[in-house]
Amino acid sequence: MRLDSPPVRILFLMPLVSAGAVCCWGCGAAPVPFKPIADNKLLMQSVIDPNADVIWESVKTIITAQGTEEIRPRTEDEWTAVRNSAITLAESGNLLMMVPRAKDGDEWMKRAQELIDTSQAAIRAAEAKNADRLFTVGGDIYESCSHCHQRYMEAITNANK
Ligand code: HEC
Repeated sequence: MRLDSPPVRILFLMPLVSAGAVCCWGCGAAPVPFKPIADNKLLMQSVIDPNADVIWESVKTIITAQGTEEIRPRTEDEWTAVRNSAITLAESGNLLMMVPRAKDGDEWMKRAQELIDTSQAAIRAAEAKNADRLFTVGGDIYESCSHCHQRYMEAITNANK
């Protein structure tokens, strides 16, 4: 498709319009209609980290002298628990984009979006009950955490100075 064709131009305009609306809520005099409770650190500790653990712990291989044990969700309830954690993680990406958690309107948003996209892939893997796929996207989720931490977590950014 040619880049200057009308449908593409319309697609470009739509995010700009919605970004403008967000700025009106966040920057104007009118109070925002939502009430953030946890700052980034507490959101990581209470919501993001525990739910990522549910996904990472759900598929693994334990090798001992007695033999090899393949851990993976098996019952309907176990698959639902993994799916629920993936949904919580995906929606947490949206929470990270909200005022006052977002650190900027550019790179931060991309990192939060990466968490949403990889978590959405985990939702699909859980719905398909595909443990191999879940294992792979678990790695992608881990990468998305690291990408943001390398850029925004002070303990890491200071260590790199
Ligand atoms: C969009 C950016 C972003 C993403 C994505 C992100 N984090 Fe974080 N995370 C941060 C920032 C910023 C801090 C430092 C918060 C502070 O200390 O104020 C942090 C801190 C943490 C901490 C340390 C909290 C403490 O006790 O000091 C943990 C654990 C953590 N994140 C886990 C995760 C996991 C797991 C993921 C992925 C599933 C993730 N984070 C994804 C930005 C992000």
